[in-house]
Amino acid sequence: MPPLLQLGDAPFDLDDITGIHHELAGHPLLALPKLRALANRLQTVRYHSGKLAATDSFEHAAKEHPNGLTMDQTIEDLEHAGSWVYFSHIESDPEYKPLVDEVLDCVQSQLPSGSGPLLLRAGWVFLSSPGAVTPYHMDHEQNFLLQIRGSKIINVWDPRDRSVVSESELESFHATYTLKETKYREEFQPQARVFHANSGEGVYMPFTAPHWVTNGPEVSVTFSCTFVTPQALREGQAFAANHKLRQLGISPKPVGSSPLRDSLKGQVLRAWKSTRGSIAKKP
Ligand SMILES: [Fe+2]
Repeated sequence: MPPLLQLGDAPFDLDDITGIHHELAGHPLLALPKLRALANRLQTVRYHSGKLAATDSFEHAAKEHPNGLTMDQTIEDLEHAGSWVYFSHIESDPEYKPLVDEVLDCVQSQLPSGSGPLLLRAGWVFLSSPGAVTPYHMDHEQNFLLQIRGSKIINVWDPRDRSVVSESELESFHATYTLKETKYREEFQPQARVFHANSGEGVYMPFTAPHWVTNGPEVSVTFSCTFVTPQALREGQAFAANHKLRQLGISPKPVGSSPLRDSLKGQVLRAWKSTRGSIAKKP
C-alpha cells in the first residue's frame, strides 16, 4: 500500500515549496456529513463569505464579510452559500486526532534525519463554495495542504524572497502575531508558484510562505496538517527579537546570517518575556 502522503524520492527539503500526492481523498472522516457533525462538536469553527479578493484582510474576514447564515446552513448548502468555512485544531476531537497523527507520522518518516521532531502538530479543514477566495496571508506553521474534494488554484511565494516578504514584515508578523504588514500586491504575482490541485493532490508550504487560494467551480474540501520544526521556532523567535531591537533603536543583523546569533536572540527574548511575566505577577 502506498504511504498516505508521497513526498517524492529525493530528500524532502522543508524550505522548498513542493507539490505532492496523497491517498486521503476517499477517507471516511473527510466526507461532508462527517465534517458537518464535527463542526457541531468543535468550538473552533469560523465561517464567512467567500466572495473575497486576494487583497482583502484574511484575519478580519469573519467580521468584515459575514455571510448572514448560521454555520449549519452554510455547510448544508455550501454549493450556493458563497462561503468559506474553517475548522481549526481538529486534533482536539478524539475521532480526528488519530488521522492527524497518522499523516504527520507519515511526514516525519520521510524527512531527512536532521529535521528534528514535528512540534505543535495540528489539523485543519477548509470547506468552500465554488469560486470562494482565501485572501493573501501567511501562517505561523509549516503546512501540508491536501485537496480532498473539488479543486483549487493555490498561489504560494518563497518566504526567502525579500522582493515579496520583507524583513520588517516577518519581524512584525512574529512579534505582534498579526498580518498588518502582510498585504498582497499585483507585482508579486509573477514570482508565485501556482498549483492547480485536484483531489489527491496537495502542496507543502514552508514556514511563513505567503499564499492565496481560489476555489474551482465545485464545492471544495481541503485538509491541512501543520507543524513547526525546532529550526522554524528559532527563526520566528529571532525575527521577534529583531522587532524588539528596532523598537530600542538598534539595527539588528538580518535573521539567517548567523544561526548562533539567531539562537541567542531567541533565548534573550524568551528570558526577557519571562522576566516581564514574573514582574507583572508580583503584588
Ligand atoms: Fe494559510
